[in-house]
Amino acid sequence: MKKLINKLYRNRVLEPEEFKELIGNRSPELSEYLFEKARELGIQNYGDDVYIRGLIEFTNYCKNDCYYCGIRKSNSKAERYRLTKEQILQCCEVGYKLGFRTYVLQGGEDGYYTDERMIDIIQSIKQNHPDCAITLSLGEKSCETYKAFFDAGADRYLLRHETANEEHYGRLHPSQMSLQNRKQCLYHLKEIGYQVGCGFMVGSPYQTTDCLVEDLLFIKELNPHMVGIGPFIPHHDTPFADEEAGPLELTLFLLGIIRLMLPSVLLPATTALGTINPRGRELGILAGANVVMPNLSPTDVRSKYLLYDNKICTGDEAAECRYCMQKRMESIGYHVAVSRGDHKAMDKSI
Ligand code: 5AD
Ligand code: FES
Repeated sequence: MKKLINKLYRNRVLEPEEFKELIGNRSPELSEYLFEKARELGIQNYGDDVYIRGLIEFTNYCKNDCYYCGIRKSNSKAERYRLTKEQILQCCEVGYKLGFRTYVLQGGEDGYYTDERMIDIIQSIKQNHPDCAITLSLGEKSCETYKAFFDAGADRYLLRHETANEEHYGRLHPSQMSLQNRKQCLYHLKEIGYQVGCGFMVGSPYQTTDCLVEDLLFIKELNPHMVGIGPFIPHHDTPFADEEAGPLELTLFLLGIIRLMLPSVLLPATTALGTINPRGRELGILAGANVVMPNLSPTDVRSKYLLYDNKICTGDEAAECRYCMQKRMESIGYHVAVSRGDHKAMDKSI
């Protein structure tokens, strides 16, 4: 199996059967071999810097009904909230002082935030902080809307594809949503000039190794700037309440594989990873990740943005998360960078 890792390291890709063999035959020893190579590539590209993103979860209203997600439309128990423009700008102020130079505006697909309102928010953030990057994570929009947000100053866009397998996609989402449209959105975003992130949940219900192979091949084809992966975690008020969470070791293994496939990709050790294991994010960095996304949302809404159960950091102030993260990264020999943390190919300051 080490041969396959060497081949992946050399060629940046494997045949589908080889990916399947590699994933199917993983072991602690093999993982360690993979992670060493992944860290080597991470350090070649970004040194021992870990980039931080201030996550602002500004609305938990959503018109979609994804079976896995705690803020799905049908979850009548979710306590809904929206942040005002002023509240969002306030989060950015707090974040700036803490050293954040990227803000991630994430929310459900909420019609209240019209293009006009979003453009106003994006422009205001940029006006206050011209040295910061804005990442949007607002779901599927038209190409025109994506372009308008980009022109207003948005730099990056996160839209996880969730699974690259049609049938699997259909088992995670109601029929109104389509994988084809989601992929189309990702290609539009890239064409417009965004730094683009796709991604998927590890161990979501009905996921097979073949699905994971398709995810990897889709990622290779899209060649995104960012890839967000984290374990699936059940939420008690969703149709997947009784399903098992995705495994830590498989998530780490896939992080390592993705670093070998795309050596300069921006790869977060996600909150979900930190939720299934107290040292999940540190282990993610040691498996090849190079980004963490501490929460900047106001404390009074934190516990309402629950995509899954037992989410960490819901009671902590932004400053607590920020310094907690610094300590965690330093404990493994990495250090938190105060910079936009652009993808290498898009960094105008180099
Ligand atoms: N477990 C883990 N991740 C989830 N997401 C949504 N629901 C869950 C869950 N139950 C992820 C999706 C989405 C991102 C914002 O959060 O992949 O794209
Ligand atoms: Fe909104 Fe899943 S329910 S993205």
